[in-house]
Amino acid sequence: MKKIPHLLATDLDGTFAGDEEGLRNLLSHYETLEEPISLAYITGRHRASAAKLIYEESLPIPDLLITDVGTVIYSGPDFSEDEEWGKKMSAEWYPDEIIKAAKNIPGLMCQNLPHKRRVSFHSKGLLPARALETQLIKRHIAHTFIFSSNRDVDILPQGGGKGEALKFSITKYVEKEANILVAGDSGNDLDMLQAGYPAVIVSNARAELSGIEADDTLFRASYPYAQGILEAWQHFYGTGK
Ligand code: GLC
Ligand code: MG
Repeated sequence: MKKIPHLLATDLDGTFAGDEEGLRNLLSHYETLEEPISLAYITGRHRASAAKLIYEESLPIPDLLITDVGTVIYSGPDFSEDEEWGKKMSAEWYPDEIIKAAKNIPGLMCQNLPHKRRVSFHSKGLLPARALETQLIKRHIAHTFIFSSNRDVDILPQGGGKGEALKFSITKYVEKEANILVAGDSGNDLDMLQAGYPAVIVSNARAELSGIEADDTLFRASYPYAQGILEAWQHFYGTGK
């Protein structure tokens, strides 16, 4: 794959998808620019679920598709899996041990997923999720713990997550001088929003991001969804070409 000149790396649900008019405005702005802006979708969904959303919402086909909370990376145009990242993610990964550790924790339901590249649950609030984390630590099971939307618990391989997947992808697929913007709205986006690249929290973000303060690289948009992404792009890179 030829290296990407500029990149919008964005979460889908609640960020890039959700407001058609805002999305049209963002994409129209990108069309006026002299150099193309490539897209990386970084989502909690698995591949088929992300593909369904892309189809249903008529979203543009991205250049990179990072699914399962940053545990799987696919690169266009054929969307073959990045094997190097896959190897990293499977080096010390024992999903069945995680499922065992979660047994008998009240208020924790295993999500039905097509594979075990991550193990995810629905939790009745934070307590069952924390009880699982305690079990994983007690059993010395290497993992990354992500809690979002006051319900979703994602247990990922150590060194996984949207932020790590993004850093890996940028090093491998993106040109050094690229303009980059990272966009998100919830707890599973936090590590990528704080990965050190210009980033935006859209105004409709979930309460779990409300304590995150803006700084030179992290912008809090006053608009929601894609309109907030456009606002941030212009904040960092100007309104011109
Ligand atoms: C999406 C996924 C779900 C995951 C959640 C949080 O909703 O479908 O499996 O737990 O994101 O990352
Ligand atoms: Mg989201």
